[in-house]
Amino acid sequence: MFESFPLAPPDSILGISEAFEKDPRKNKINLTVGVFKDEQGRTPILESVHRAEAKLLESEKTKSYLPIEGGADFNRQVHKLVLGPDMEPGRVAVAHTPGGTGALRVGADTISRHHHHARIWLSNPTWANHGAIFKAAGIEPLTYSYLNSSKTGLDFDAMMHDLESQGRAGDLVCLHACCHNPTGIDPTLDQWYAISELLHKKHLVPFIDFAYQGFGEGLNEDALPLHAILKHNADAVICASFSKNFGLYSERVGALIMIGESPTNTAALLSQVRSSIRSNYSNPPRHGESIVATILADTELSTLWRSEVDAMRYRISEMRNSFIEGMSRLGSDFRFLASQKGMFSYTGLNAMQADWLKTEKGVYIVGTGRINVAGLSTQTMDTVCQAVHDACRIQS
Ligand code: LMR
Repeated sequence: MFESFPLAPPDSILGISEAFEKDPRKNKINLTVGVFKDEQGRTPILESVHRAEAKLLESEKTKSYLPIEGGADFNRQVHKLVLGPDMEPGRVAVAHTPGGTGALRVGADTISRHHHHARIWLSNPTWANHGAIFKAAGIEPLTYSYLNSSKTGLDFDAMMHDLESQGRAGDLVCLHACCHNPTGIDPTLDQWYAISELLHKKHLVPFIDFAYQGFGEGLNEDALPLHAILKHNADAVICASFSKNFGLYSERVGALIMIGESPTNTAALLSQVRSSIRSNYSNPPRHGESIVATILADTELSTLWRSEVDAMRYRISEMRNSFIEGMSRLGSDFRFLASQKGMFSYTGLNAMQADWLKTEKGVYIVGTGRINVAGLSTQTMDTVCQAVHDACRIQS
């Protein structure tokens, strides 16, 4: 049976990172996969996580199965962190999923079981894995305009026009609540309210990827677009990830949050989510969710954690500014990056330039021109700036 299987192409993000690992050059630089790095190039375990783990080591009594939708403490804390205290609890179904990717897939599976011809609108561009996840769940991916022609900002009119003219009632719309991946370009809060009204008017359903809470403007500020969307829309799907803001990448902790119009709707929704999970991975892993729940339930630990998230955000912003300055010293104008938020920046480099950077300079970026700003450091800044400057010139 397996003889006929062709080789699958490498993943457009993780595949480049794998190639980086195999590159024997000593001075290579990895700006591909979205992982926070400190000045020394390490992805540290947060101090709040260390302390929560120490607490768990003392207090944990069992490794028995969790409920299908994850533990009640985790789900309650996540609800509060993502939606704030005001949202009517009866309308919110929360399930712990293996990472934000797990949330996207379980949410998509749950919807496609009941809407056999569901379609989802994805921003152009979007995270490289979105299309594959929705397709695998049987949902047809379509794209709406996002970037302006110079790839330096949001073309809000084109985005609204596409959704208005082509969206059909019942279509899903995938939105990045903050720190748009891959561009770092987000709508303003006023624009979020306009998007919210349009979705409501057209009966489109928001399907929100929320993977970078705390990396844009702050943990509370980054959740404001959710409030804007929920102001006008009764049904919504939110996929939260705790990979980045808790640094729990390999623990695979995320949450699927489905909001229904009424508690009765939501009870049915949760039962369907549970059923999707049960036929997929049965129930979620314990360790990561225990860490998140322990931190969020403890005032001291959550204060520490909040300050650690702030510190990660400040470092990223410092690196972005320092990159812009470095480029400007070389005579290249990258000031458009200043309004971009989160781990990623869209440099405007094309696939050939990205390939040239890798081959000639050992600087690995994603083929779309996305760089992981959190992968930059003071030590590597000049090298990266010079390499990007050269790449721009040789191809133009
Ligand atoms: C990224 O976009 O680099 C991250 O979300 C990691 C991944 O799985 O692609």
